[in-house]
Amino acid sequence: MTKTTISEVYQYVDQEVTIGAWLANKRSSGKIAFLQLRDGTGFIQGVVVKSEVEEEVFQLAKAITQESSIYVTGKVQKDERSPFGYELSVNKIEVIQQAVDYPITPKKHGTEFLMDHRHLWLRARRQHAMMKIRNEIIRATYEFFNEHGFVKVDPPILTGSAPEGTTELFHTKYFDEDAFLSQSGQLYMEAAAMALGKVFSFGPTFRAEKSKTRRHLIEFWMIEPEMAFCKFEDSLVIQEEYVSYLVQAVLKNCNLELQTLGRDISKLEKIKAPFPRITYDDAIKRLHEKGFNDIEWGDDFGAPHETVIAESFDKPVFITHYPTSLKPFYMEPHPERDEVVLCADLIAPEGYGEIIGGSERIYDYDLLKKRIQEHGLDVDAYKWYLDLRQYGAVPHSGFGLGLERTVAWISGVEHVRETIPFPRLLNRLYP
Ligand code: 4AD
Ligand code: MG
Repeated sequence: MTKTTISEVYQYVDQEVTIGAWLANKRSSGKIAFLQLRDGTGFIQGVVVKSEVEEEVFQLAKAITQESSIYVTGKVQKDERSPFGYELSVNKIEVIQQAVDYPITPKKHGTEFLMDHRHLWLRARRQHAMMKIRNEIIRATYEFFNEHGFVKVDPPILTGSAPEGTTELFHTKYFDEDAFLSQSGQLYMEAAAMALGKVFSFGPTFRAEKSKTRRHLIEFWMIEPEMAFCKFEDSLVIQEEYVSYLVQAVLKNCNLELQTLGRDISKLEKIKAPFPRITYDDAIKRLHEKGFNDIEWGDDFGAPHETVIAESFDKPVFITHYPTSLKPFYMEPHPERDEVVLCADLIAPEGYGEIIGGSERIYDYDLLKKRIQEHGLDVDAYKWYLDLRQYGAVPHSGFGLGLERTVAWISGVEHVRETIPFPRLLNRLYP
């Protein structure tokens, strides 16, 4: 008898196999039982026919409860009707552990209840699909940057200096000193780019932001590439190629998962570089035309503004050249217009909002020092960062892609809380 997994059963058509599985769901009558089995690699239906198995096996099939763990043995059969393509004709069941009163039943539950049971909810077919898509995006990220000559560098999580403004920092003690949880690895990635040329990071970041929206997490994962000798426009080309690569990889490798989530695939098929670019000035004009009369030059965009701008495009759109006053201290000013910076946010279609923030970085020592002071930051804490402008400064650019927002958009799920295994939200640190 062969031991295998659900994802491998296609190799054993008409042969008998044993699979370690959980019972996701079950339907039975007096003569037949349909077992919805899952083993992490996939989902398959097991069929137990009373007249074809020993009485004891049929009774067991009727008695096993939702989410019990079992070894199930049967013959693999091709099945055109199932989306998966195969079915198992069960002839033996061995119960490992009989589960009692699994809290998440096939009926509908509220979000708070499901979030309280996140440790179990992860087993659901939808959640399974989302984690597989997340994994594919991570896999494709490493592939893309490795193929493009980038080196993976890991910035620290406990830090002494803040890149994105001091109001959203998680504070902690570092023995006798004050420290913060990283809100972005960027400053360290700039140092790494001066050592290795093209680098990228992938790690958790923390924002003590009191936002309770479908796009905000307190802890989220960010991919942060940084490139030496790279101007603002060159960085946009890498960004659009990278995002296209992610979407095409998910289309190619996660077909079943997209189907499970009911994603409109035709929308994803259009996501190919190049992406449209509009300036902040133009975005303000477009918003006025759409009836947002209150917004003025110098105001930041909220979710409704980004959604309306994105509606004009069927690909992600770059909004470039934001006012200097809206952006962090490190962004390179426009060479002819001091009031705007060489930056871009990439706004995803369908209301998913900003998935990338990036810019060219200031590489002039005096200007950078001035900006640090203007932002009320402690120059001493940034001494090492200023050093990069004293020893072989070069034009350089980089960006940060938020993993969860990208997973939400590509999967077509409403809220980022379902795109990370254990979301940290404003009111949630458990489970
Ligand atoms: O625009 P942000 O704040 O940019 C930076 O942190 C830069 N230092 C990155 C860089 O240039 N290396 O964040 C980048 C991206 C956003 O576009 C968004 O996708 C995601 O990170 N993001 C969040 N995702 C979930 N929850 C939050 N609270 C997020 N804040 C930012
Ligand atoms: Mg941003």
